[in-house]
Amino acid sequence: AKLNTDDDDDLFEAELRKANAEMIRENPNPANALRAFNNLIIKYTHKSSAHLARARALEQLAEIRQSNEILEQAIDSYKRYLAFAELISDDGEFRAAGERCIEHLRFMGYQQQAVAIHELLIDRFWEEPQQRNQLTLTYLMINNLELVRRTAGNTLKIWPQDALAQLYYGLAVKQLDRDYARALPYLKYGMESGLRGTQEGFFYLALGETLQRLGKQSEALAVYERGVEKQFFPSVYQRALYNEPHLRAQPFWDVAETGYAESFEKLQRNWSAIRDEALALLNHHGNFQEETEQLRDTGDWTQYELYAQGQRVGRNCQRAPITCALLAGFFPAATSCRRGQVKFSAMRAQTHVWPHCGPTNCRLRAHLGLVTPEPQLTSLRVAEQLRTWQAGELFIFDDSFEHEVWHNGTELRLVLIVDVWHPDLTADQRLSMSEI
Ligand code: LMR
Ligand code: MN
Repeated sequence: AKLNTDDDDDLFEAELRKANAEMIRENPNPANALRAFNNLIIKYTHKSSAHLARARALEQLAEIRQSNEILEQAIDSYKRYLAFAELISDDGEFRAAGERCIEHLRFMGYQQQAVAIHELLIDRFWEEPQQRNQLTLTYLMINNLELVRRTAGNTLKIWPQDALAQLYYGLAVKQLDRDYARALPYLKYGMESGLRGTQEGFFYLALGETLQRLGKQSEALAVYERGVEKQFFPSVYQRALYNEPHLRAQPFWDVAETGYAESFEKLQRNWSAIRDEALALLNHHGNFQEETEQLRDTGDWTQYELYAQGQRVGRNCQRAPITCALLAGFFPAATSCRRGQVKFSAMRAQTHVWPHCGPTNCRLRAHLGLVTPEPQLTSLRVAEQLRTWQAGELFIFDDSFEHEVWHNGTELRLVLIVDVWHPDLTADQRLSMSEI
């Protein structure tokens, strides 16, 4: 075995400098630099700075080539560097490397792996609340609200005034406990701080919704107005976060305006067969699922999905063959709508659905009335217009606009919900859009 000598170190530094020169010259060449770092690492596996330099070359190359495979190698190199923790004296370099590594892991969807890096940073920079807040944010990204509440709660034990931790904590309290009164002061304090990380459309929606659910309508409106000013969503009534520009936007649509009249009329002509199929399914307990987005205030509201995100829900379609046969091959704007669903929606009497907005302006939502009792006691509000359901009749609304539902009657209400691509979207847009 060879002993480490100062000569060795000098030689290493010289070789590292030479390799680095490829990265910092006028036309950086990360591919050449990478070759140099690869060679360097064979000889000097025990040098943390070689791994760091390789990580940086790889992340640049990943960017240039738009390659996730190379990005994974960059992540790997960062991890090797970070594993030297005890031996690394440069705090700034260590922090920056950890943060880059976490950024890449989040991008790749490897939040679970990111947790280990967060823990390294929290250990080393225990006096920085942001390290704990970043861990909380990673948990928020995977929607693990239990862990959001726990980590934000722990941050607040040390730094009770930390605005970001309060915001995260308030969000978890709202979602998990549905205790809007308790969540409000946390959310408000967090948002009013204006701190980096707090100004996100998502948080504006959460604060506004909390205010609305507490009946503080004008305060909610002020929050939404600020969200519009910051261009998180198109208007105080249209509060979707995943939007395409230049699409026509109005609360209700005529069938003729959509360009899908033929397909809608086919469904409408067959409404009683659709109804019978839905009722038969509804009679078997467990077929319909509870709504899961916490939109229901009171009552009982369940759904049965036939298509979701542009995919046929095979198991469910098998048990609703007529309805699915009326869609498959006949209504591509619905069956291929990767930003929507087709589903039966059953609402029992004495149900109230909180005001809410859909996630995207890229779809329109049709309701075909199947069982529609007590028209005076059931209604759907979209923005400032009220409608009710009629058996065999259909209406179309843009569910990115705020809507709210009341069923103050005594009997079941059942509708078929059909989401379709917004007619202004081109074929290319429909193909390239991510699913929601
Ligand atoms: C909604 O889309 O939020 C509601 O209109 C659904 C329903 O069943 O009324
Ligand atoms: Mn809705």
